[in-house]
Amino acid sequence: MSKYLVTGVAGFIGSAVANALLAQGHEVVGIDNMTTGSPENVSSKITFFQADCQDPSLYASKLPKQKYDAIFHIAGQSSGEISFDDPSYDLRTNTESTLHLLKFGLANDCKRFIYASTMSVYGMQPDKEIDESSSTFPLSFYGVGKLASEHYLRLYEQFGMRSTALRLFNVYGTGQNMSNLRQGMVSIFMAMMLKDGKIHVKGSPERYRDFVYIDDVVNAFLLCLERESSAGQAINISGSGRTTVGSLIDKLVQLKGSESSSGKEIPVKFEGSTAGDMHGIYASQQKAEEILGYKPKFTLDSGLKRMYDWAKELKF
Ligand SMILES: NC(=O)c1ccc[n+]([C@@H]2O[C@H](COP(=O)([O-])OP(=O)(O)OC[C@H]3O[C@@H](n4cnc5c(N)ncnc54)[C@H](O)[C@@H]3O)[C@@H](O)[C@H]2O)c1
Repeated sequence: MSKYLVTGVAGFIGSAVANALLAQGHEVVGIDNMTTGSPENVSSKITFFQADCQDPSLYASKLPKQKYDAIFHIAGQSSGEISFDDPSYDLRTNTESTLHLLKFGLANDCKRFIYASTMSVYGMQPDKEIDESSSTFPLSFYGVGKLASEHYLRLYEQFGMRSTALRLFNVYGTGQNMSNLRQGMVSIFMAMMLKDGKIHVKGSPERYRDFVYIDDVVNAFLLCLERESSAGQAINISGSGRTTVGSLIDKLVQLKGSESSSGKEIPVKFEGSTAGDMHGIYASQQKAEEILGYKPKFTLDSGLKRMYDWAKELKF
């Protein structure tokens, strides 16, 4: 049995990773400040600290000073759009927090750090599969902060901290927050469709993304523990390949249509735009496959179906 520190345990991805570690019989110490997380996501088996990762007193006096086998740093403000509201906050919550955790890990004899980075570090890119050697030119404060965190990981390698940054593409799936309409593309559109019977898309249907199901993302985090060669690397974690927003909407509308006896149409409006939005990006999975042995198990159709079956039972 190993002991892991997981941040963001009350959130979508952090709770899924923590639960997978618990299911493998490991011990999990978790942190979350509950800004977007919810208490129901935190398993009673976790030793939980409701605290802010940017708060130095957390490391000085609250967290147990014990050896962690790895730190999974997943907490974060996770929206490019929201990062424009208060860039200084974004820097503190996403980047300064990373520095605190790296330092805390080293001071407590932890040599392994796995970080939830993002496709947003790439920014504007040509219409082709993006590999990890592509240029990084973030378009949001969020992307800038995540890229800075990746560089801090790199600098801490010299002190013996072996780190992996997983550049997550658009993650979706069961457990995603369906009430937060500023975070997550699939969850926003699915929630609008189920709650209001219509979808408003800010931006063009020609934009494209690469959607990855939560179970595949969890698997990628776990694979980092097994594959020592992932240390010192930034690795894309993606799923569906190039998928336009228009085709995502079509799939969602079809899912609703397939079970609706009324045959009611879902009106879809494309209007407005979002600050810092990228026109399009999709990933090469080659490095993930070579280093982690990662291969997504979910297609977009199977992932959407599973999420839809879960979401339609929720009370909005
Ligand atoms: N969901 C995606 O598509 C996606 C894509 C790329 C990267 N990521 C990254 O993955 C991570 C998790 O994203 P998510 O989708 O689960 O979002 P989420 O909002 O569901 O989870 C983030 C969790 O972190 C907590 N948190 C935020 N700031 C904190 C802080 N300073 N201290 C302690 N807790 C804090 C929140 O309360 C929340 O529970 C984020 O770092 C995000 O940037 C997500």
